[in-house]
Amino acid sequence: MQKINKVGVVGCGLMGAGIAQTCVQAGYETVVREVNRQLLDKGLSRIYDAWNTMIRKGKLTSEQVEENRARLHGTLELVDFADCDLVIEAVIENMEEKIRLFPALDATLKTDALILSNTSSLNVTQMGAVTKRPSQVCGLHFFNPAPVMKLVEIVRTISTTDETIETVRQFALSLGKTPVLSKDRAGFIVNFLLIPYLLAAIRMLENGMASRDDIDTAMKLGCGYPMGPFTLLDYVGLDTTLWAAEAIYEEFKDPLYAPPPLLRRMVVSGQLGRKSGKGFYDHQK
Ligand code: 3HC
Repeated sequence: MQKINKVGVVGCGLMGAGIAQTCVQAGYETVVREVNRQLLDKGLSRIYDAWNTMIRKGKLTSEQVEENRARLHGTLELVDFADCDLVIEAVIENMEEKIRLFPALDATLKTDALILSNTSSLNVTQMGAVTKRPSQVCGLHFFNPAPVMKLVEIVRTISTTDETIETVRQFALSLGKTPVLSKDRAGFIVNFLLIPYLLAAIRMLENGMASRDDIDTAMKLGCGYPMGPFTLLDYVGLDTTLWAAEAIYEEFKDPLYAPPPLLRRMVVSGQLGRKSGKGFYDHQK
């Protein structure tokens, strides 16, 4: 089994930043890449803010945060991944983007490095197929907030080898996560079950069956969920939810996954949830 010392994360948005934070906290030397300075600074600030909160709560000392900061390296260049043993892709959920990125990573990384995708529902086999190392490609899907949520889904493509899966499983355990294994089918385990629930809540609101607040309260208090569906939709991001729904609908053509009109309209008007300041709730400070 391969030894992982240095990790790369492509993308420092909500998920990329959370994944980089998780890897650094587990002791890995970590390089995170964004496409421009502004996005990189925004992502790194998100991580620094989380560490400041952890100091305030007594979960980390300032010395530990100093050590963490020294292990975290921001970059704008893929070439800085050249000596990484494992790279996790966490860019926008758009297949064209991924298909452009994977061959570029393949050309830059050392031959034994693994390439993992944090995609929530796109075809990982296709991402592996545009590289010369499809046996070393699989999914590693984190949940938001990545440093807190215990689960990761390992997604096995038809080309991934047992050795790759075992290395990734050990890596996930070293991050303090509990891995589950899924075949490469849109939605994997969690989103295959979660997306229809979230879409049903939106349809229920559209139909006027109950109010936003009552639906959220019902699922929190009736089922013991930590968040109601609209709080969770805003937390995950309405754009991310739409892309996941579209990808699963595209694969299975099951109407359960057809995005409701309200979701599409909120996304085109920039109401994306917490990240944009407005979604089903108002998050303006
Ligand atoms: N880094 C470190 N710690 C963090 C953190 C971060 N980035 N973000 C939150 N935390 C910590 C907080 O400091 C807090 O720690 P404490 O309990 O020791 O004080 C702990 O996490 C809980 O946070 P809060 O106190 O702020 O709030 P809650 O107790 O309400 O918990 C929650 C927040 C963990 C988000 C909880 O509400 C929850 O589990 N919600 C459901 C989240 C969920 O379902 N996520 C999955 C979404 S699906 C997905 O991501 C897949 C995608 O493909 C669509």
